[in-house]
Amino acid sequence: MPQNAIFTEGSTSAVFLECSIKSAADINQLKKCLIKVLEMNSDQLQVLISFSKSGYEKIGSKVPDGFKDFKSLTGINHLKMPSSQSEIFIWGHSFSKSVIFDFVLHSKKLINPFLTIDIEQEGFRYHDSRDITGFVDGSANPKGDKRKLEVLIPLGETHENGTFVLTQKWTHDLTSFHEHKVEEQEKIIGRTKEDSIELEGDAQPNNSHVSSVDLKVDGEAMKIYRRSFPFANTEDNGLFFLGFSKSIQRFDVQLKSMLGLSDDGISDRLMDFSKPESGAYYFAPSSKELSEILTPN
Ligand code: HEM
Repeated sequence: MPQNAIFTEGSTSAVFLECSIKSAADINQLKKCLIKVLEMNSDQLQVLISFSKSGYEKIGSKVPDGFKDFKSLTGINHLKMPSSQSEIFIWGHSFSKSVIFDFVLHSKKLINPFLTIDIEQEGFRYHDSRDITGFVDGSANPKGDKRKLEVLIPLGETHENGTFVLTQKWTHDLTSFHEHKVEEQEKIIGRTKEDSIELEGDAQPNNSHVSSVDLKVDGEAMKIYRRSFPFANTEDNGLFFLGFSKSIQRFDVQLKSMLGLSDDGISDRLMDFSKPESGAYYFAPSSKELSEILTPN
């Protein structure tokens, strides 16, 4: 079974914790503490735990094939995607902001002796799952049986039912996005604003977000499953991007295309209005593998 948190949709509140393992941390004690964090999973709260390459190594488990750290990328016109690679990524989501608050309080108390929190970001569901630009986010996500097919390492393979994870905190320049008329905003995204209908044919600009990420490599659609949450406070606002896929290559291909580094040399116009401030790859093992990994030696 994959970790429940991945496919349980509809939550209205979330928290993202990206952490590094303290050099003095006792790994067996860390495992016990992560089991306690995981045990907070309930009807009301979904908790996911995932590891980076070095997280896997430090915890003493076999690193998935092809797994790597997120490396900073520079695209055309000085576009940047920085790396902030941490070692353990914990995601909690719920229908209740109160439940998330309790989870943050309790989990931080548990992990503090072992982990340094590099990124702590809360997110919320904005209207009917819209990004704060006002566009529905998640429309083209694989649905039904296709979800598992695109996201999970197939049965029979090592790390079956696990999935690669990409996190990226994006900060929007909302004022400048909103300065454009809705019709122009739709050209930036590649979908209509109200109903999220994909622009077709000539109406779809080749520098829209959809054109940048709806890609095929050797006939294979580079599908990923997105569970991003917006954030907004007085300091900044944007989208905490969270993606899952059975192949890390799919993220690589999409990110490079957004940066204008693929053959067409066209960058994603969305990057004129939003900038990534962090970037990291993790692997979320299946529930079974996770409990094996966390069993103290
Ligand atoms: C500021 C950051 C981002 C925002 C605001 C954003 C927003 C959106 C919106 C509004 C859509 C159209 C509706 C939908 O299908 O969900 C979309 C589609 C999509 N986005 Fe993003 N996105 C962001 C970053 C990314 C990143 C970093 C990736 C890839 C690593 C990505 C991959 C995709 C994919 C694969 C689709 C579906 C394309 C299709 O098949 O039609 N997005 N995004």
